[in-house]
Amino acid sequence: MYQIVYRSIATQDFSDSDLKKLLVRSRMRNKEAGVTGMLVFHDGTFLQMLEGEKRAVIDIFTRIEKDPRHRGVAVLHRGSGPDERVFGDWAMGYADFTGVAAILKGFVRFNKQLKLADLDSAGAVELLTACGHDQALKQA
Ligand SMILES: Cc1cc2nc3c(=O)[nH]c(=O)nc-3n(C[C@H](O)[C@H](O)[C@H](O)COP(=O)(O)O)c2cc1C
Repeated sequence: MYQIVYRSIATQDFSDSDLKKLLVRSRMRNKEAGVTGMLVFHDGTFLQMLEGEKRAVIDIFTRIEKDPRHRGVAVLHRGSGPDERVFGDWAMGYADFTGVAAILKGFVRFNKQLKLADLDSAGAVELLTACGHDQALKQA
């Protein structure tokens, strides 16, 4: 599976309904393209993993990169990941930090002040992959 992980900074306040709209649209587009993944949003910072066929992932990422609703898009990881999808059939999973902190107790214990902005690429991949392995996070 080809994967891209990036981090970015929101350029606007995202209400729950703004996020919901973004997710509905994203899931529809991703489903068509056979792309799956996970979006984490906390404190104005986005962290997202996209996975799928290389061309499809790059096409979607190229669109996301130009979106004026965020800036400073920084790619933390790109390339082939595991053969199997991490996110199964999630067109785009979603978690705010509260959910992630709750499921990743071990992870958070080592990083009391964990900030998405401070994660290095290995940490980002680890966090997102752990989300993919947590059944409780099935997309709402
Ligand atoms: C943080 C963030 C994550 C996004 N994730 C996706 C995504 O996974 N898939 C997608 O198609 N669009 C995603 N988008 C939206 C795209 O940037 C773009 O607005 C959308 O694909 C355009 O679709 P449309 O031309 O059908 O309106 C995301 C946008 C932001 C700001």
